[in-house]
Amino acid sequence: MSKKFYITTPIYYPSASPHLGHAYCTTLCDVIARAKRMRGYETYFLTGLDEHGEKIQKNAAAKGVTPQAFVDEVATRFHALWDAMKISNDGFIRTTEPRHEKTVQKIFSTMLAKGDIYLSTYTGWYCVHEESYWTATQVGDEHLCPECGRPCEQKDEEAYFYRCQQYVDDLLGFYDSNPLFITPESRKNEMVNTFIKPGLMDLCVSRTSFSWGIQVVENPSHVVYVWLDALTNYITALGYLQEDDSLFQKFWMDENCEIVHVIGADINRFHTIYWPMFLQSLGLRKPNRVFVHGLLMMKDGKMSKSKGNAISAYPLIERYGVDAVRYYMVSEVPFGQNGTFTPEQFVMRINQDLVNNFGNLLNRTVSMMAKYFGGIVPAYAAANDGLDEEIDALIRSTKVAYEALNDDLQVTQAYEKVMELVSRANKYIEEKAPWALAKDSAKKEELEGVMARLAHVVYASALMLSPILVEKCNEVYASLGVEEPSYEDIAKLGVLSGKQTKKGDILFPRLDTEQEVAAIIEMMNGPKEKAAA
Ligand code: MSP
Repeated sequence: MSKKFYITTPIYYPSASPHLGHAYCTTLCDVIARAKRMRGYETYFLTGLDEHGEKIQKNAAAKGVTPQAFVDEVATRFHALWDAMKISNDGFIRTTEPRHEKTVQKIFSTMLAKGDIYLSTYTGWYCVHEESYWTATQVGDEHLCPECGRPCEQKDEEAYFYRCQQYVDDLLGFYDSNPLFITPESRKNEMVNTFIKPGLMDLCVSRTSFSWGIQVVENPSHVVYVWLDALTNYITALGYLQEDDSLFQKFWMDENCEIVHVIGADINRFHTIYWPMFLQSLGLRKPNRVFVHGLLMMKDGKMSKSKGNAISAYPLIERYGVDAVRYYMVSEVPFGQNGTFTPEQFVMRINQDLVNNFGNLLNRTVSMMAKYFGGIVPAYAAANDGLDEEIDALIRSTKVAYEALNDDLQVTQAYEKVMELVSRANKYIEEKAPWALAKDSAKKEELEGVMARLAHVVYASALMLSPILVEKCNEVYASLGVEEPSYEDIAKLGVLSGKQTKKGDILFPRLDTEQEVAAIIEMMNGPKEKAAA
């Protein structure tokens, strides 16, 4: 039976166009999903949009369109970006789809019938201008709206609440028996110490102050709180409580399927406290891991549409290709930590890893293959010396490390290992000096071994890099004469023998730092997104 893997991104708010920060999270998930598929896992990769809530309703009103028309338009921009970034998602969920809305109503009814949700009164600090409730802490001693600074008034509203306390002990027990549930671990401590230990309040799960949401069937003046609505996307998208629930059975109900939610730290509390509780209410298993990634920031802080400092992915893709942008994200911002986008680092990363290291190895290998063997990969001769042995061992150990690091979601480190193999092979060329071996007919077999090893390193690296370099690896396979690349070939050291290699175009052209930094700065100042059309 094949192993199963289910990975999700957060469902983004289509309140404005997506920026490089959204693309960061989705791309990392895509890279993880592609690597699992390549290794034979039955994989389901979900992304989508969180389309309800007051903010969307307000943004739509400001534009003079209905909320549905508003989100439909923004949704096309998300789809366009995912196409441009070559995102391989298997599913896409929008919370305004009937399949989702109907299921959320059933979920709410189940929780209500069970007594996990009860009707009561919400008391908060209300800002009439923003039409928003704030907590006492948010409004401070002066009772001022944190958004607009106007005075707030204390107000009551009938609301439904989710009973949290009854599940707290189970949740803490779940954390203890599943130490990897929240990764990195510091994120777990934050949840326990900041939110759970001081006493978790019941969660308000309905609103009557606006209407853009899923109606509570039992009480139609209420709409379901956007987070209860949104979190359940991870199961409604698989068909939970729907006529065709085969995906749900396959990926959620199978205890052996690994379920991973990737999120930003800003939404950790919802995913690691309330979501497991909601699942417990429904009698369903919990995900295996919630991986909290860092933020891609700009020098002046978090990238955001409202700050006007967001950079669009499009001009970067247009100028450097999608692979370079994807590679930058994976390698430059260690998964789980924050990173700052700078034009200098972007250019340096591409030149250093893709041009000077990977592209260079391919280029040198194919050129020498043409020169010494008419382009035909020679037989993989037995190791002639310790250097050859080291390369053989490194190919194998890199594959093992790559898999283990990927499985542990140490994505950046997994690809670093591949680049280390590539660097080692570049150094091996210097050490073995094929040009010298070629002058001595007694060294022919040694030269064959060297060239076969180099070709194999290029092939193995391309296979391992292919979840990131979704376009360029195909060019590498073509250069090596490989028609049907297979991940399993990595361990088959002689598999390329007899292949006809050929020189292709330069894989990644060298970037002129000064010129490209200037070009990127211009992009950052230029139009922030692809024409809305
Ligand atoms: N709709 C909720 C999520 C519901 S999930 C059931 C939401 N949406 S959001 O549009 O604000 O997206 C938040 C997520 O986008 C973050 O958790 C993070 O994964 C990603 N990012 C948004 N800005 C980002 C950066 N600047 N850098 C990296 N990721 C960023 O919250």
